[in-house]
Amino acid sequence: MNDQSIKKFRFGSPFETKSTVKSIPEEKGSPSFVDITADGKTISYRLGKNDKVYGMGEAVRGINKRGWIYETYCSDDPMHTETKRSLYGAHPFVIVDGESVFGIFVDYPERIVFDIGYSNVDMLSVTVGMPDYDLYVITGETPLDVVRRFRELIGKSYIPPFWAFGFQQSRWSYATSSSVRAVIDGYRKNGFPLDAVYLDIDYMEDFKDFTVNSDRFPDFERFVSEVGKENIHLVPIIDAGVKIEEGYDIYEQGRDNGYFCKDKYGNDFVAAVWPGKVCFPDFLNSRAAEWFGMNYKRLTDAGIDGFWNDMNEPAIFYSQAGLDNAIDKIASLKGKNLGIYDFFNLKDTVQGLSNSASDYSAIYHNADGERVCHDRVHNLYGYAMTKSASDAFRRIAPDKNILMFSRASYIGMHRFSGIWMGDNQSWWSHLKLNLQMLPSLNMCGFLYTGADMVGFGDNCTEELALRWLALGIFNPLMRNHAAIGTRDQEFYQFKDREAFRSLLRLRYALIPYLYSEFIRAAEENDMMFKPLAFEFRGDRFAEAVEDQLMVGSNIMIAPVYEPNALGRSVYIPEDMLAVRFRSEDDFTVSEVSQGHRFFEIPGNEVLVFIRKGRALPLVRSADCTKKLDLSTLYFIGEPSDGFTFTLCTEQGVRGGESVIAKTVFTFSGQTDPEKKIFRAAKQ
Ligand code: NOJ
Repeated sequence: MNDQSIKKFRFGSPFETKSTVKSIPEEKGSPSFVDITADGKTISYRLGKNDKVYGMGEAVRGINKRGWIYETYCSDDPMHTETKRSLYGAHPFVIVDGESVFGIFVDYPERIVFDIGYSNVDMLSVTVGMPDYDLYVITGETPLDVVRRFRELIGKSYIPPFWAFGFQQSRWSYATSSSVRAVIDGYRKNGFPLDAVYLDIDYMEDFKDFTVNSDRFPDFERFVSEVGKENIHLVPIIDAGVKIEEGYDIYEQGRDNGYFCKDKYGNDFVAAVWPGKVCFPDFLNSRAAEWFGMNYKRLTDAGIDGFWNDMNEPAIFYSQAGLDNAIDKIASLKGKNLGIYDFFNLKDTVQGLSNSASDYSAIYHNADGERVCHDRVHNLYGYAMTKSASDAFRRIAPDKNILMFSRASYIGMHRFSGIWMGDNQSWWSHLKLNLQMLPSLNMCGFLYTGADMVGFGDNCTEELALRWLALGIFNPLMRNHAAIGTRDQEFYQFKDREAFRSLLRLRYALIPYLYSEFIRAAEENDMMFKPLAFEFRGDRFAEAVEDQLMVGSNIMIAPVYEPNALGRSVYIPEDMLAVRFRSEDDFTVSEVSQGHRFFEIPGNEVLVFIRKGRALPLVRSADCTKKLDLSTLYFIGEPSDGFTFTLCTEQGVRGGESVIAKTVFTFSGQTDPEKKIFRAAKQ
């Protein structure tokens, strides 16, 4: 890499975020491309008429971010409507793609406002609250060059265990061992593959971290082992807040050792989440982080090998001060005739209790000796929680690659874990958002990711579930998750079981490709999901496509994301092969030429487009990842001479990381010219 392609400028005294792994010398003088105001608070760039802006990781709207205002601020907000500015992750990285191609990463863990042609259609302006940050300006010939350099700067992406590429079923909550058993049976008895079932908050005793309710899960360890024999992994949730309760050892240890965040008087900061009043472990304090992380051992000792960290923005339902104030206000209004503004004000008082700015400002951290107000480091909290677990896993179980993903995140956390896209809804627009977020997250290093398939909040329809599955089979984290009170949405619950079964089995047939392309993307700092604009430079139609993706090096997908659709229009950027899958072994292949085309796509079919000269490997599906026979692959495509495919497989685990074996396949002639199916020789 040309070292000059990343320039670092330091302003004020930034908080050490540990987002980067590469040390870049600080430049003197001012950065090229961008202008910076004299107070250092705003970085701006005049956008050309056709410039595109990519990045922002977890955020609403399209792949091209131009035309909206975003804020990097980890937010517990389940209503991902298009006017929202922040979601759960904070990823302050954008790429300008126009006459100049460059990226800017503002390493600053407080709120940053990215106004991308919103206040002024021609201006990109990035504003921080205090001028204490590191600014990285990254250049490249193409946006992909910029991504690769950025990813080199922030370090290699997390690789989950192989089984985590299998299908996973979740719900808030499968609250007893018999409800978990019913889900496993529902999948297995219907011939649907499945690798994991999730335990949401009700598996715990009164929502206390690292406990298991023994009435609901009698002999938990035995249960974990029993389902493990059926190749099912149980994945419990861990919440950031620790219940305040005398006699609860985790609480007492945290309190006695001073491991919790404080208020301004130095007392433990108290707020309420699921268990009622909680304290928040101070993950910025390395001793507290180590202590919390080592507690995962209680569950790994019971055979657990995967976790999801939740509510770690941190989410706050209310603080005592906020609640007292609201109750006083409500009491003062008793018996009064409220005008509309008083009534709105009353509503806002109650709604504003959760995740309030004044509560966050009242939290203090002990960052290894330095007292820091939470406002300065807000976006690091979920990152630090997840890193604490990841660091502990290497000590607790170096012979295992333990699955970990988190809700809140910041740049750099991608080295330790994946993320899910948070509390979406069973809306068609969120199916599209799932697609659009994948490449933006990849730009920021988050490769192991996916949305709550079928939607978390609200009731889904069977049609939405099937269409979402047709996209979900490409998500590395393929998890169906639903909120409490919503309709059952396990795939076997729907009428057209055959269709759901076939598409789920197709996912398993695709795993060798998806896993291998994932590993390649992680090792080469590449994106597994690319917008067409990144591959077909100079093709103005491809550059405008917002609803198709290149998946790995060989294929393109174009899912249907509208109800009652006959099919959809697809832009074919070059001559390709269209494979119409009804199931892993019921498919037809046809040639499609470059241009705009309409494809009829019934709900029970998935269309995959194979690039010219390339091929798609498949394996016979199985009811779990462990049973996939990866020694026998077949390929669909018309690969050009010398085309190779490198199959990656997990050979074991060393130091908590998967050991990956590679087998190179070369092409030795077509075996079924009509179907374009090949057997390929290992090199
Ligand atoms: C919020 C999470 O985002 C959601 O996935 C989970 O089901 C609920 N918390 C309950 O734990």
